[in-house]
Amino acid sequence: MTALLRPQDAVLWAEAKPYLDVRNNDEHTLVAYGVAKALLAQLPEAEEDVVLPAILLHDVGWKRIPPDLLLAAIGKNPSRRDLVYEHERHSVVIARDILVRHNVARVDEILAIIDGHDTTSEARSLNDSVMKDADKGWRTTPHGMRVIRGWYGWSLAEYIDMVSVVSNPRLLTAPGRAMAEGFTASLRAELALANYMETGA
Ligand SMILES: [Fe+2]
Ligand SMILES: [Fe+2]
Repeated sequence: MTALLRPQDAVLWAEAKPYLDVRNNDEHTLVAYGVAKALLAQLPEAEEDVVLPAILLHDVGWKRIPPDLLLAAIGKNPSRRDLVYEHERHSVVIARDILVRHNVARVDEILAIIDGHDTTSEARSLNDSVMKDADKGWRTTPHGMRVIRGWYGWSLAEYIDMVSVVSNPRLLTAPGRAMAEGFTASLRAELALANYMETGA
């Protein structure tokens, strides 16, 4: 992982990994980390020392939610929204322990972003916005689409509908929106192409 992670983040990743072996969270975390780095490059006012530890640790709390309930907590019409609050609270507790043990600076700012990363939709700070956009923007990446379509068995059209209605409107930064809208436009074009090949229309 040295090609992707900063050395100081590799230490946190090693600590986070045992908590991320549910619901593809390990892959989601690393790909979202890559997206966060790209957004940080576009938004020099945002601070990587806050955003990157937050993205690495934001979802560790899912480990404490019963596995059979994970997919009911998210998706297009979630029936167990309470579990989204619960995973945030667990993430904060686990992340605090990891960050303090490794003497990471700005623990309170990192934890404030982790707490509410899914259940608040406003931009609470630029760092918060970048972390949220990396997390939600991941859904439109090729990796996010592959993983999420696999969870729910969604067609490409159903997936485009979900990101267009549920996910993309929540993005907060201009680069995050551009990334998500660009990926989504490419999916719409792919769908139109597939229909054209089938029907000629
Ligand atoms: Fe989350
Ligand atoms: Fe996440």
